Amino acid sequence: MSQRVLITAGASGIGLAAAKAFTAAGARVHIADINAEAVAAASAGNPDITGSVTDVSNPDAVAALFQDVKKELGGLDVLVNNAGIAGPTTPVEEYDAGAFAAVIGVNLQGTFNVTQRAIPLLKESDAASIVTMSSLAGRFGYPNRVAYSTTKWGLVGFAKTLAMELGPFGITSNTIHPGAVDGPRIMSVFEGRASISGRTVQEEVDSAMANQSVKQFINPDDIAALILFLAGPHARTISGQMFPIDGDSKAAV
Ligand SMILES: NC(=O)c1ccc[n+]([C@@H]2O[C@H](COP(=O)([O-])OP(=O)(O)OC[C@H]3O[C@@H](n4cnc5c(N)ncnc54)[C@H](O)[C@@H]3O)[C@@H](O)[C@H]2O)c1
Repeated sequence: MSQRVLITAGASGIGLAAAKAFTAAGARVHIADINAEAVAAASAGNPDITGSVTDVSNPDAVAALFQDVKKELGGLDVLVNNAGIAGPTTPVEEYDAGAFAAVIGVNLQGTFNVTQRAIPLLKESDAASIVTMSSLAGRFGYPNRVAYSTTKWGLVGFAKTLAMELGPFGITSNTIHPGAVDGPRIMSVFEGRASISGRTVQEEVDSAMANQSVKQFINPDDIAALILFLAGPHARTISGQMFPIDGDSKAAV
């Protein structure tokens, strides 16, 4: 039977790359994303992708999402916890408390909201996996991005605990830690850094590359391929692990 996959924030970026890779491999995918236009575009372009407009930080919206998941997929084999927001780039003593709570709300509470409802469905699967998107910022400290780094480290503890609780049910749980991913989002990160450091955006890009052994941004399709491997038949005993995909980065700078 084809895999039934739920991907949060699946309407763009890494999530959409993963949705396309899963469907190319024969899976059926449901995406949950806050952007209605992007959900419509992603599902219109591919008959194997359905979608819900969902803010993962809203428990009622997540409850409605799972009505859609049951209707569209009839069960669940793979949960990709990909939804995450960056929050501001600001020194910690100036960091807005509301912005801090918003990042926690999506990245941690939102991941909890979705995962809690997914578990009963995953337990019914013969081969279930949870793949959670952390970051380079979940392995290193990340100056001026305190909420983001805090949540991305938090997801490591979340995923490790799930690996222990759910392993006896045959469910694996791992985190992926991308470095700077190619795309529009990364340029806004460099612009934010430049606005604080006084350096140019290009100087910030050069400094990020100096931090990596492999001097290139990460291709979202490569992250998608790693997600598929971790959810695939050769990874049934790989659980509770962290998977950096970051050109051998030395820090989150
Ligand atoms: N892009 C990078 O360089 C990078 C690096 C490391 C980790 N990550 C992580 O990868 C994940 C995906 O990042 P991306 O760069 O592909 O993102 P993106 O900005 O390209 O897309 C994010 C998607 O999330 C959706 N979204 C935002 N808030 C949401 C919410 N509350 N509920 C549901 N959906 C919501 C947006 O509508 C959008 O479609 C995030 O968790 C991010 O932290 C990204």
